[in-house]
Amino acid sequence: MTQLKIEQLSYQVDQQVILTDINLTVETGSYLTITGPSGSGKSTLLRLIADLLPPTKGTIVLNDRPVTQFSPNQYRQKVSYCFQQATLFGETVGDNLRFPYEIRHIPVDMVAIEKALAAVGLIHMPLTKKITTLSGGEKQRIALIRNVLFPPEILLLDEITTGLDAANKAIVLAYVRHLNEDWGITMIAVTHDPEELQQKGRQVQIVAGELVNQDEFSR
Ligand SMILES: Nc1ncnc2c1ncn2[C@@H]1O[C@H](COP(=O)(O)OP(=O)(O)O)[C@@H](O)[C@H]1O
Ligand SMILES: [Mg+2]
Repeated sequence: MTQLKIEQLSYQVDQQVILTDINLTVETGSYLTITGPSGSGKSTLLRLIADLLPPTKGTIVLNDRPVTQFSPNQYRQKVSYCFQQATLFGETVGDNLRFPYEIRHIPVDMVAIEKALAAVGLIHMPLTKKITTLSGGEKQRIALIRNVLFPPEILLLDEITTGLDAANKAIVLAYVRHLNEDWGITMIAVTHDPEELQQKGRQVQIVAGELVNQDEFSR
């Protein structure tokens, strides 16, 4: 089933054309990998899909409904964006992991938080730990968990394994795969990483703001 349909999507800032006429269809539960040279417009495409930027032209339709018909909150709960540089806020790990409950005004589910921490190899991570003392790999994993404590329909991953060592990368990729296969979250992942490119699913390439080389293959 088609979950996301992008038609003639373009983005321009002043006179600079960043993306031109992108057409892309994403099936429910699929795993799409987007690759391409630095500066080609990949992050811009994810930001457009996340509704963090308004397109200059074109449409994005989620479950047969144009993005413009969702409230920002409603849409953000369905389509969640993990940034290239994991952004944590507040002072502690707990501030970040309690946040998804707080904004929904529901009690914090400590069991779900402990389970999620364990799933990404952070079983002994104290919630009182200061975020300034975390490694890059720990930050990335905590940001990822924060995004999926309430599972979105689509997770947008922007070079989330960049800068991680081999062990952390393996944990993160296995977790992402689990979210896709066992929870049915649709993945749209931007990456340069050779191991991440070995993930299953379809791959497309963006070069100079245009979508090229759409190959369908499965692993
Ligand atoms: N808000 C903006 N204003 C001006 N230029 C931008 C803006 N956002 C992105 N760009 C430019 O658009 C191009 C694509 O950027 P980006 O989407 O970050 O590429 P990628 O993620 O593929 O490396 C780059 O040339 C970048 O400098
Ligand atoms: Mg980028």
